[in-house]
Amino acid sequence: MSTLAVYPGSFDPLTNGHVDIISRGARLFDRIVVAMLVNAEKAPLFTAHERVDIARAVFKDQPNVEVDTFDGLLVDYVQRRKAQVIVRGLRAISDFEFEFQMALMNRRLNDKIETIFMMPAEQYTYISSRLIKEVFSLGGRVHGLVPELVETRLREKVMARNP
Ligand code: PNS
Repeated sequence: MSTLAVYPGSFDPLTNGHVDIISRGARLFDRIVVAMLVNAEKAPLFTAHERVDIARAVFKDQPNVEVDTFDGLLVDYVQRRKAQVIVRGLRAISDFEFEFQMALMNRRLNDKIETIFMMPAEQYTYISSRLIKEVFSLGGRVHGLVPELVETRLREKVMARNP
């Protein structure tokens, strides 16, 4: 039986921590779907379309990585895709409580779907999309923390906002 995993998130923007988890997942599972939540925030920095474009470009050479969007309940999407596993990254103990709640709620909603936690490489354990946006918008360097394409897109966003 081939295993399909779903790695859900907002990915606003994709960080090297996400890329690390996706690459590990792609080695472990037959196929991994990076599933971007549409309407996660009222005003995400990147539209769902932009986030999908970025992830597809970053993983263009990895044929078992697919990029998709979803809305509504995650477990419904996972079931629709006939996937067996939800992948989530755990960076630190501080992530644990919320992730534990989500995993158990998702299990209550559908106990055929298993959540698997993966740890990113230690150099990415402090990165979050929220921090990347904050640091970049205040003029800080995010080089090496996000894919180069994300850096370029961040620069374009800032230029578009403050021409
Ligand atoms: O990148 P994030 O913001 O940590 O991802 C959170 C996400 C998208 C995984 C979570 O908010 C989610 O699954 N939302 C879909 C709605 C849902 O199923 N909610 C109940 C989760 S227990």
